[in-house]
Amino acid sequence: MINRKGIILSGGTGSRLYPITQVVSKQLIPVFDKPMIYYPLSTLMSIGITEILIITTPNDLDKFKSLLSNGNQWGISIEYQVQKKPNGIAEALIIAEKFIKNSNVVLILGDNIFHGNDLPNRLKKVSIDEETATILAYPVKNPDQYGIVNFDKDFNPISLEEKPQTPKSKFAITGMYFYDKEACSLAKKLLPSNRGELEITDLNIMYMKRKKLKVFLLDRGDVWLDAGTHITLSQATQYVQTIEERQGMKISCPEEVAYRSNLIDKNKLKLLAKRYSNNDYGKYLYNLIDT
Ligand code: G1P
Repeated sequence: MINRKGIILSGGTGSRLYPITQVVSKQLIPVFDKPMIYYPLSTLMSIGITEILIITTPNDLDKFKSLLSNGNQWGISIEYQVQKKPNGIAEALIIAEKFIKNSNVVLILGDNIFHGNDLPNRLKKVSIDEETATILAYPVKNPDQYGIVNFDKDFNPISLEEKPQTPKSKFAITGMYFYDKEACSLAKKLLPSNRGELEITDLNIMYMKRKKLKVFLLDRGDVWLDAGTHITLSQATQYVQTIEERQGMKISCPEEVAYRSNLIDKNKLKLLAKRYSNNDYGKYLYNLIDT
């Protein structure tokens, strides 16, 4: 049994999605049939993480609490903290200090969607490693929009850069980061970047310099989407709808993950299904019980 907790960073102003996110948090808006945060939450649950901290803005805290409560309905525990200002992704690890205590941790961004055949099992293997940090890399067409990792010929990371104008590789660093117990104390050593943020890429560079950074390459058939702009939000919605309608199976449905992971039993699932009994989401949950 590994000792790893999960953090979902759901902060920021979501200004790239204005006017949609002017009065509602980005991570609460829908990606097809569920709120965006369900996706990273289900990803954490699917790799066996059951203690989760959600970090959000003071404004959005109550809305997240009323949507997700303490996690008991899905057999997990959810706690909350606020990030007062968008001071950078790495600040999440400092805010989470008390929650993390002496655990390993996985940090995931609230707008990142992962989907792939057997991906949970592959990520579980990543999660077992308690000695290093692991970032996930994924080839993209527009690497200048992301944190980028460049490799030597043996695929060891040799440089990391945040949104470089001339990227040295096409491998973006996704918004899911596995850290050892040192993450919080290292994050405290970071200085704000030119844009005034504690950069997660700078933390990963610290790990790389200590020879403690691994890179897990996602497969060609894996899907990683971030739903942070109008176009990527729409693409994510279309992707989820297309696959769900074709297969009749849901992507990142926390009720289903909880049930299949034995975190909740049939009776609890039935109660959850009852809430949505007049729509397809509820029918899908009822179906899980019957099949
Ligand atoms: C952040 C990180 C970047 C990473 C990306 C993944 O960028 O700074 O390194 O590649 O998330 O979604 P942001 O989208 O917050 O600008």
